[in-house]
Amino acid sequence: GAMAAERAVAMATCTAPVNIAVIKYWGKRDTDLILPINSSLSVTLHQDQLRTTTTAVASRDFTEDRLWLNGAEADVGHPRVQACLREVRRLARKRRGGSEDAATLSLLSYKVHIASENNFPTAAGLASSAAGYACLVSALARLYGVEDELSEVARRGSGSACRSMWGGFVQWQRGERPDGTDSLALQVAPETHWPELRVLVLVVSGEKKPVGSTAGMQTSVETSPLLKHRAEVVVPERLAQMMRHIQERDFEGFGQLAMRDSNQFHATCLDTFPPIFYLNDLSRHIITLAHRYNAHHGHTKVAYTFDAGPNAVIFTLADTVDEFVEVVRRSFPPATNGDQFVRGLPVGSATLPQELVAAVVTEPVPGAVQYILHTKPGPGPQLVDDPSQHLLGADGLPRRRA
Ligand code: DP6
Repeated sequence: GAMAAERAVAMATCTAPVNIAVIKYWGKRDTDLILPINSSLSVTLHQDQLRTTTTAVASRDFTEDRLWLNGAEADVGHPRVQACLREVRRLARKRRGGSEDAATLSLLSYKVHIASENNFPTAAGLASSAAGYACLVSALARLYGVEDELSEVARRGSGSACRSMWGGFVQWQRGERPDGTDSLALQVAPETHWPELRVLVLVVSGEKKPVGSTAGMQTSVETSPLLKHRAEVVVPERLAQMMRHIQERDFEGFGQLAMRDSNQFHATCLDTFPPIFYLNDLSRHIITLAHRYNAHHGHTKVAYTFDAGPNAVIFTLADTVDEFVEVVRRSFPPATNGDQFVRGLPVGSATLPQELVAAVVTEPVPGAVQYILHTKPGPGPQLVDDPSQHLLGADGLPRRRA
């Protein structure tokens, strides 16, 4: 009401998760609004292992918007950052429209300072833009008191970011409308739905990705007839199948389809002209290893998926983790003393039967896998209450990190 005191400064800190698609998003029908040519489906990973933290501060005293990424000042004028800022502010005005919330109205007129950091190396190529934009939008939404339509806003940062606005199993429905108001993320099942599901991220050594997703998928849209067929025919069928496998917790079906969809995504990259290569010799080695391992056991025990970079993400069930991690350790012996080769959730030791080693571990490649991160499905963005966790001080400048 009219008596509301103007707040001179407001602050909010959130965390947001990484997600891994099992039905891939590749291709836009609108590059400005970030509207995809097909729906996609992902698993949100647990923030205990992988997360972005973002603090947003608005103050009467700030003279300009500013942004820090992992401690270094970055360009706040980036069009996608600006799109997210503009859209959250628009929703805040819409929400407050009619009421006379002086506090929010003045907040909206203040400049903002934003700081964001990942608890994992950006260079590891672990879908940091999805967690980053989901976190930016969550923190801004909290700052301005916005609660709805947030996946549409995160989508304007990075397409895959809209799926990081929910935990568990998430569908990004492509939508039909040209204005994008129906292109949003929905939770298919919560993170508690499939308690045995586990995720192993095989962080491979070396190079950064050659072509970014944004540029790569646009060339694919322009040149790949396979991508067109995939979007029109293959994905709609697979999406329905994948939803069923998830509902039924059918790992055989889930894993096989995840592998096939990753492979088809990379096939559309090869079908792009000039072609794009994200898989390398090591990725192919890991693919072969997974198939040999499954063949040895006579069913699908592990499933790989690869995005626009060489890291492998392996889905499996809890009872398979110890053995498969040992298979990876034997196949890619750690370069150093093996300290910290396995990170994240605990992994027990396993002794491999001789027949398994003979059938699966063919030619070991020392040092090729830097480390394995063991995680599981997790929740969506979280508000951070503990004031000691804010990345910016009351003065709006980055705090000294521990
Ligand atoms: C291969 O979301 O990074 O990871 O929308 O241009 O920011 P932009 O692309 P981005 O693309 C992700 C592509 C993918 C598959 C997926 O996550 O669905």
